[in-house]
Amino acid sequence: MPPLKILQYPDKGLKRVSIPVVNFDESIQKVIDDMFETHYATPNCAALAATQLNLEIPWRITVIDYSANKDQPLCLVNPQIIHREGEQNEYEGCMSVFPQHIHEKVKRAMKITVQYQDRYGTPHEIEAEGYFAKCIQHEVDHLDGHVFLDHLHKIKIDRILRKIKKVQRQGKNS
Ligand code: NI
Repeated sequence: MPPLKILQYPDKGLKRVSIPVVNFDESIQKVIDDMFETHYATPNCAALAATQLNLEIPWRITVIDYSANKDQPLCLVNPQIIHREGEQNEYEGCMSVFPQHIHEKVKRAMKITVQYQDRYGTPHEIEAEGYFAKCIQHEVDHLDGHVFLDHLHKIKIDRILRKIKKVQRQGKNS
């Protein structure tokens, strides 16, 4: 069993705004380890943000690994997107938003520059493009209290949610 529970939409916890990490102490190391453990225990998971999890404090932390062998862990603490350029419009899903059912296109920047600290507090700056950039933007949204549905029109969201309810009523959901 993974140590942390992934909150499911429309859980109010998903609207929490993350708290920046100041002290990179043992308790933060434990949170990051638990986040990675939860990530690797969840099938088809590309990344998780602390605000998606049943953590007492929703730290500004995201763990990312979408490598085929799950051997390229990346932890971003206090990430800030300082530059965006270009556009992409690709399908996204989310472990908190009916992961079996919803994949919708979301407009994101194609290329971003991100400042963050690693798990030990050392500052870094990276450029990300394409899928990697999309993934970081999705996670930073979580850390600001948003899910990817927030990017869609309300009419579309209502239609999707109605469809899911219908499927669930028919007992076809997994
Ligand atoms: Ni997500």
